[in-house]
Amino acid sequence: MNDNSDANTQTFTLMDNASGDQYVLPVLESSVGPRVIDVRKLYADTGCFTYDPGYTSTGSCESRITYIDGEEGVLLYRGYPIQDLAEHSDFAEVCYLLLYGDLPTSDQKAVFEHDVTYHTMLHEQVNMFFRGFRRDSHPMAIMCGVVGALSAFYHDSLDISDPRHRMIASFRMIAKIPTIAAQAYKYSIGQPFIPPQNNLSYSENFLHMMFATPAEDYAVSPILAKAMDRILILHADHEQNASTSTVRLAGSSGANPFACIAAGIASLWGPAHGGANEAVLNMLEKIGDVSKIDEYVKKAKDKDDPFRLMGFGHRVYKNFDPRAHVMRQTCHEVLDELGITDEPLLDLAIELERIALEDEYFVEKKLYPNVDFYSGIIFKAMGIPTSMFTVLFAVARTVGWIAQWNEMVEDPSQRIGRPRQLYLGEPERDYVMMSERK
Ligand code: SDX
Repeated sequence: MNDNSDANTQTFTLMDNASGDQYVLPVLESSVGPRVIDVRKLYADTGCFTYDPGYTSTGSCESRITYIDGEEGVLLYRGYPIQDLAEHSDFAEVCYLLLYGDLPTSDQKAVFEHDVTYHTMLHEQVNMFFRGFRRDSHPMAIMCGVVGALSAFYHDSLDISDPRHRMIASFRMIAKIPTIAAQAYKYSIGQPFIPPQNNLSYSENFLHMMFATPAEDYAVSPILAKAMDRILILHADHEQNASTSTVRLAGSSGANPFACIAAGIASLWGPAHGGANEAVLNMLEKIGDVSKIDEYVKKAKDKDDPFRLMGFGHRVYKNFDPRAHVMRQTCHEVLDELGITDEPLLDLAIELERIALEDEYFVEKKLYPNVDFYSGIIFKAMGIPTSMFTVLFAVARTVGWIAQWNEMVEDPSQRIGRPRQLYLGEPERDYVMMSERK
């Protein structure tokens, strides 16, 4: 028997039924949630890899940032429930919380907001990158390109082993992402870029850069700014999701943080992940009418039909996504503020949710509305085009990616990520000369 544990550690014993060998694996305790079986020595001891292609049962790292209980519908940022933060906090404070681990004092928050504000402008040469894109380019393509290009501007002044350098890069990324996002939108509609305004809050500034024009003054609605701020809070971080894991894996090689965030943006773009909010709206518009819901629910349940109900289901939440509840409430508030009383897409979404939640297929597979189900309706009501929905998700998630990237770099046990595989290809074979091939 191979025993990797000391006397005080809880353990699992693994039995190889072929050889009768037993292996004792240490169990690592969590502060909340599932314990983990430490398999770091498994291959050295057994000659076997673990196999978990979607990482459904695999912990990739230690983290103290976000905790999710998918069965109970719990989401905590540094221990604070998402519902409390959505109700009482603002996005700048949540950024501080995710980065530093605790809520700021009023002085700390003021300094943090000032420092972020004074990094919101883009280098004029960065603005040149937009001009290389077609006007009808998907804004997520522009985000991938321009954010990745930031690494060309700060690569030499960035020693990621230096905490000061990491924090400056973090502030730059958090501060500039809304400017890049708003400019991607302005570029797509042929309007001039609107520079950031230092007297505005993070969300006010973003909406101002999105919707102001040089032709006249533009006052940001405080209700819409509050709604945007809440939406950014809800999307800020979410444990080791696909895009965050992409950022961590890219960063594990020591890559420039701007290039890592560009990789995260690329992963978020997929319709199974952050691209779902855009896909939800396209789906609702395709369904078109309440009378067609049953037809599409039937398609979603058909194994031979690739159609899925976008905005439904989640790898972790098998009860409800707490963010979806807050988003639904925000949706009603925004529509009320805008005086929109007959939004057919909202009526359709509410009826689709009702029907799906009563359908045994969705109940049995524990498929509930996720964070993306209502966000698109809110964004549409705010005048944001569908193609910009995932961009807004990226604006919010950048602070989560940055917090997770810093945690990864600062982790003394961190090594380059390098998964193995279950090889099913050809065993070694001799080269066949061309003349001998049939
Ligand atoms: C986000 O990870 C995160 O935390 C992500 C995120 C974050 O904040 O970072 O929360 C943001 O990405 C939210 C999810 C947005 N995506 C969508 O709304 C797209 C639609 N949802 C599905 O593609 C799916 O539910 C996933 C991708 C979200 C989860 O996929 P899983 O965990 O791999 O689950 P699965 O695909 O294995 O599905 C389990 C079963 C399958 O049926 P069986 O093979 O078991 O018979 O449920 C079915 C699926 O066919 N299923 C659906 C469905 N989602 C899953 N059937 C119909 N419609 C759906 N939406």
